[in-house]
Amino acid sequence: MDKFVIEGGHRLCGRVKISGAKNGSLAMMPAVLLAPGVYHLKNTPNLRDVWTMSRLLGSMGVFCELNDNNLFMDASQIKSYEAPYEHVKMMRASFYVLGPLVARYGTAKVSLPGGCAWGPRPVDLHLKGLEKLGAEISIENGYVVAKAEKLKGAKFHFDISSVGATGNIMMAATLAQGTTLLTNAAIEPEITSLARMLVKMGAKIEGIGTSQLIIDGVAELHPVDDETIPDRIEAATFLIAAAMTGGRIELEHTNPYHLASVLQKLEESGCNIDVTSDNILLEMDNEPKPVDITTSVYPGIPTDIQAQWLAFMLKANGISKIIDTIYTDRFKHVPELRRLGANIDLQENTAIVQGGKQLSGATVMSSDLRASASLILAALIAEGQSEVLRVYHIDRGYENIEKKLTSLGAVIKRVKTDLI
Ligand code: EPU
Repeated sequence: MDKFVIEGGHRLCGRVKISGAKNGSLAMMPAVLLAPGVYHLKNTPNLRDVWTMSRLLGSMGVFCELNDNNLFMDASQIKSYEAPYEHVKMMRASFYVLGPLVARYGTAKVSLPGGCAWGPRPVDLHLKGLEKLGAEISIENGYVVAKAEKLKGAKFHFDISSVGATGNIMMAATLAQGTTLLTNAAIEPEITSLARMLVKMGAKIEGIGTSQLIIDGVAELHPVDDETIPDRIEAATFLIAAAMTGGRIELEHTNPYHLASVLQKLEESGCNIDVTSDNILLEMDNEPKPVDITTSVYPGIPTDIQAQWLAFMLKANGISKIIDTIYTDRFKHVPELRRLGANIDLQENTAIVQGGKQLSGATVMSSDLRASASLILAALIAEGQSEVLRVYHIDRGYENIEKKLTSLGAVIKRVKTDLI
């Protein structure tokens, strides 16, 4: 198992190219189950979660090959309609195959994901939505079994805006008989890009980019070539890294529009930001100011940067409040950050950070993807050497993170270790 050894105290300066969005690719890949043929997805990030999805689709008969960020998928011959526990337990996004399978083949068996590192993450909305479209759902031995002769268009309101449930139900509705109206649908860019891919495949979807989607079911879809959007969370993580080390960074191949809420918060903290088409230039000449954030659905501050923002606020002299309204328990990084000397008071879904105190290097343990990013960021400003264990979490969602950080001037090394 790998760990990172990081020497803190170096300014990050330079240019970095942002990779394709993990959560964009993970939503688009299962769409190949909707129509036979060969697909090409450009700008697919080379990440563990993409490999996991490739293996899952592979077990169903989809041939997947990732070459220089070009993902080729041949979905001509599907031989299984099952997503086994061994895949789903590794990655909840595996649940995305449920909607396409039941819509096209009338049957699907998908393992229930179970808990996650930071608490419960239910799938009730995925199931309710599919039931609304006429699927019969039962839970058997830890698996969701869904059956439908033909899904039928229906009205469905998401009680909570859900990225995954919107993607799942939208994919299913493209092949349902009649019209589906989805309200309070997620409008995260990764879902909007999935909707655009489905339209390219021949789906009829109106209201893309809004929370009300009208989907007219069609008899069949066809394969397409498409491209994954830039990863807004990776981009935000690098911007925060530069801001907290007093650096200057230029991000290439990003979408500043997707980052509007984060860029505004970075400006409030004292960063100078310049945006040109798909580039973002950030310069931090000041001591960062404390800035509160409250996570919310898009276009608000993403929950996926809560942990990284918390690390940033350790550098800001004063008190800041970080509230996560999406995943109220997602604070597993807090006890580890305290090991670096952080002063954080956790009250339910609110972290109160007393920043400005010099952190000192220590060995810390990653518990999940964004928590690992937060620990790496904190280690970059800690005095001396830190070790971040269990970096397989970071490999799920950041392509070549240590190479990118090294190119910006960070001192970070990946080391093999027997420790777990
Ligand atoms: N929810 C329910 N019932 C459901 C589904 C969701 O109550 O059936 C609740 C969740 O518990 C949560 C809220 O709805 O409170 C939003 O969850 P959502 O369904 O939107 O999350 P997700 O689809 O499981 C995706 C990303 C996550 C990201 C969230 C929120 C992918 C593969 N995952 O998860 O990404 O945090 O949306 O934006 O797209 C990450 O990349 O580190 C990550 C965890």
